[in-house]
Amino acid sequence: MGIKKYQDRIIYQIYPKSFRDSNGDGIGDLRGIIGKLEYLKDLGVNTIWLNPIFVSPQIDNGYDVSNYYAIDEKMGTLHDFDEFVETAHSLGLDVILDFVMNHTSDKHPWFKDAIANERSLYRDYYLWAKGKDGKLPNNWGSFFGGSVWEKDPQADDVYYFHLFDKKMPDLDWRNPEVRRSMADIAKFWIDHGVDGFRLDAFIHIAKADFEQNMPSHGKKGPIVAEPFFANMPLVQTYLHEFVKTLREYKPDIFILGEAASADIDLAIDYTDPSREMCDTVVTFRYFEDDKSKLDPELPEFGQPLPLKIETFKDTMVTWQKRLQKISYPTLYWNNHDMPRVLTRFAAESEHKKAAAKMLATLMYLQRGVPCIYYGEEIGMESAVLPKISDFEDQQADEFFKEAKEAGATEEKCLSMLSRSHKMAARTVMQWNESEYYGFSATKPWKYGQTNDVNVANEKSDDTSILNFYKSVLKLKKKPLFVEGNFVLADTTDDMYVYKRTLGNSEAWVICNLADGVTKYRVHGNLSDKHIVLQNGSLSLNEGNVLTLPPFGSLVFMTE
Ligand code: GLC
Repeated sequence: MGIKKYQDRIIYQIYPKSFRDSNGDGIGDLRGIIGKLEYLKDLGVNTIWLNPIFVSPQIDNGYDVSNYYAIDEKMGTLHDFDEFVETAHSLGLDVILDFVMNHTSDKHPWFKDAIANERSLYRDYYLWAKGKDGKLPNNWGSFFGGSVWEKDPQADDVYYFHLFDKKMPDLDWRNPEVRRSMADIAKFWIDHGVDGFRLDAFIHIAKADFEQNMPSHGKKGPIVAEPFFANMPLVQTYLHEFVKTLREYKPDIFILGEAASADIDLAIDYTDPSREMCDTVVTFRYFEDDKSKLDPELPEFGQPLPLKIETFKDTMVTWQKRLQKISYPTLYWNNHDMPRVLTRFAAESEHKKAAAKMLATLMYLQRGVPCIYYGEEIGMESAVLPKISDFEDQQADEFFKEAKEAGATEEKCLSMLSRSHKMAARTVMQWNESEYYGFSATKPWKYGQTNDVNVANEKSDDTSILNFYKSVLKLKKKPLFVEGNFVLADTTDDMYVYKRTLGNSEAWVICNLADGVTKYRVHGNLSDKHIVLQNGSLSLNEGNVLTLPPFGSLVFMTE
């Protein structure tokens, strides 16, 4: 048990509410997950990341925690959790928990006490400010829309700070009691056997002085003010102290940081082992939307936009190169905060199956730690959610209203949101053909029409995406694909080609990003190599020119 080096991890992300419902209430739970652990073992992953499972009013699906020491009753009990960890470990699967450290729920006893009484001992657990000239303390905007400030109903002209929903007040990490409380919580879960944490939104735990406004450039209303609340230098001080405390308690604890807006320089800071912070971080910077495809008549938020391939390639190669001697980047296509990759990349294509296989080949054989989002391995797309309320999002509501005013039909608005919104990527895992995909006997908490793929069908089909993922992950376990050097070949935007080398072994990974036949001249000596992974029928002529089908890919390797 226990993966020794974090770079050997292959992570599978489970959104617990949507994985498998064992008690028929339409919400996924821990016992449901226990029943599927063999499936994960067979897939070839070795680490499971669970999105939050603590007690929560579910304003943000568990990221609003009201008790960090207990499992939400909809998901099970502490006893179920212990059994889950034990069973996972017996199958060689490690467990990491989502650790929500930037904020709590407003129903957390700390906040309830803090807001009920200005002299509460917990007042300094949170962030407060006086209004300015009868208005909000500053013009900073929340990630979930509106201001970061919400009025304290008891006090005169006093506001509390929330970066996300107003029911998710931010903790004040300057307070040593907060830091100690959070470390105690982490230790409690280590005592329950967890092997690591995914640090939620950690880049926001320090804020600038509230006395400053974000330049508004004539825009009205609050403005998301990242320079004032993301990646401030003090984040590193608090993070280091936190991780050091945990490492003293459990030396091999795995730390996966969510550093959404981190660029490569910050990623180096956060993952340089000598600084003792994260092992690896997830950045959202890999994926930039191609804004040239924006419809100027409609609001930007809510529009599905294609991936900007040029930027993607530049970013990947920078992260691959600059972390080479420092740490390992995360490799991922999806998570619960973005639309599913097939929807983003190949929504209108006839060659989705090939696209799914090519994308897996491209991403996971690079240098880094794969993070597979549940359902990705069977080619699930984002679902079409039937009602605007299904998105549970103020910004989606605003898009719906404005887009309708601009002339879009309701159906079009819902279809656009379903292709661009995170919520449509959180629908239930598709296990089989039965009603609700074998997820539950009752209607699931989040449900919409999706593409008809399922585990049962794919298991028995040799050509399935699922079986292809197993082959990719088998290859990924070779030291060449873990430690090997990475070199990206200079190609047209249609192709993504790279070489991995380690000692005498070498692999070439060749991927066609185009939804059409593409030719590519292979450079170098092929005689000592053989194909170890192939997606689509390919031909190679004597001049070493490969003809690849739409979204075709292959891997050549020397042993
Ligand atoms: C992270 C989570 C996201 C959540 C937010 C607030 O970004 O990934 O889902 O809404 O933090 O906790």
